Amino acid sequence: MAETYWDANHLEEVVSQRAKILGPTVWAAAAPDPRPVISFAGGLPDIPSLPGEILVKAARWVVDNDAKEALEYNGTFGPRPLRQALAERSSRLEGIPVSMDQVMVVSGSAHGIGIMAETLLDPGDTVLVESPNFPGSMRTIRSFGAEQVAVPMDDLGLRVDRLEEELQKLADAGKRAKFIYCIPTHQNPAGCTLPLDRRERMVELARQYNTLILEDDAYGELWFDNPPPPSLFALSGGDHAVKISSFSKVLATGLRLGWTMGPSALVSRMAAVRFDMGSSSFLGRVVGQAIRSGDMDRHIENLRGIYKRKLDRMEDGLRRYCAPYCTWHRPEGGFFLWLELPAGIPSRDVQAAANEKGVIIGQGAQFFADGRATNHVRLAFSYVPMEEIEEGCHRLGEAMAEVAARAASK
Ligand SMILES: Cc1ncc(COP(=O)(O)O)c(C=O)c1O
Repeated sequence: MAETYWDANHLEEVVSQRAKILGPTVWAAAAPDPRPVISFAGGLPDIPSLPGEILVKAARWVVDNDAKEALEYNGTFGPRPLRQALAERSSRLEGIPVSMDQVMVVSGSAHGIGIMAETLLDPGDTVLVESPNFPGSMRTIRSFGAEQVAVPMDDLGLRVDRLEEELQKLADAGKRAKFIYCIPTHQNPAGCTLPLDRRERMVELARQYNTLILEDDAYGELWFDNPPPPSLFALSGGDHAVKISSFSKVLATGLRLGWTMGPSALVSRMAAVRFDMGSSSFLGRVVGQAIRSGDMDRHIENLRGIYKRKLDRMEDGLRRYCAPYCTWHRPEGGFFLWLELPAGIPSRDVQAAANEKGVIIGQGAQFFADGRATNHVRLAFSYVPMEEIEEGCHRLGEAMAEVAARAASK
């Protein structure tokens, strides 16, 4: 009886408007591929370097020294020792004073973006989004009934001239953007890092048009040779930007921990919207201890070298096997390479042909708020084992050659 009662029609009738917009597809719930695939698909950390020992050591310290607080509710803003450690570390890294009341701990940056959207968005609001972009965040913004306006990027990142045009268009219509969502550093999927002059211009525009920047910094600390320019949060002096950061890529995705930093009044309203009794007190204190001991920073230093070597290996493979069919710009950090294919080699066909050869890649309209996909492929070099990268590129090159040959014979 239960099964027929809960049929698709009944579900559609009872679920909220927001659930209707999101539809029945569960994010990232697909069963793992049973084949022994080479995955260039997911933005996931390198497996051999996952910091199990660091976390066990920090957890031991927490249980020995801080067990009561670690095993109780710690409130919606998150555990004070972690917020304190983040405020101190951020003041140092951002170069502006960051106080504890500007910091809220969240269950991963996806959660932080969700809280931000919940706090600020009503149906019919407008959000400007970099295009291409991270599909998870665009899905969240869309679910609140907001309209997303795609602002294009070039090889350097967001086109600030086009951003200005869109802000002006809204102003002419008597409206303003609720916020601008962007990933300025080691962008997902495009890999690029926005230069300083464009960052400064973005902050000026946010001030001028009375809006806010939501800066998603999931990959910001994973730079290879030189640190990126100051964050939009820092350039705005912490007033016209909220920065959402994550421990997922620098420690482990399974922790489900991240943090938001912004104007304290806004962070406080974001905390007021929440009712989840806060993120994990225990894990928050464990990560706080990993920060205080210096272990997290040493780990991040180590990761920078690992991801740089993986990128080098992938670029070698691409030059050897794929170069006739695509171009790319080397990212300065992060997890992704964004390949551009010529019009005659559709990325969708390359994805399908690569998939048949057991190589999984990302492409397509999912990265675009307006659904107008360009002919690009996203390759993650972070997760794939080092020794599989060359073979993956080899098979990808074969897939590209097949698609090109098919197109030529038409
Ligand atoms: C740009 C970006 N933002 C946010 C997230 C969400 O990460 P998490 O919730 O694990 O911090 C991801 C994950 O891939 C991402 O790529």
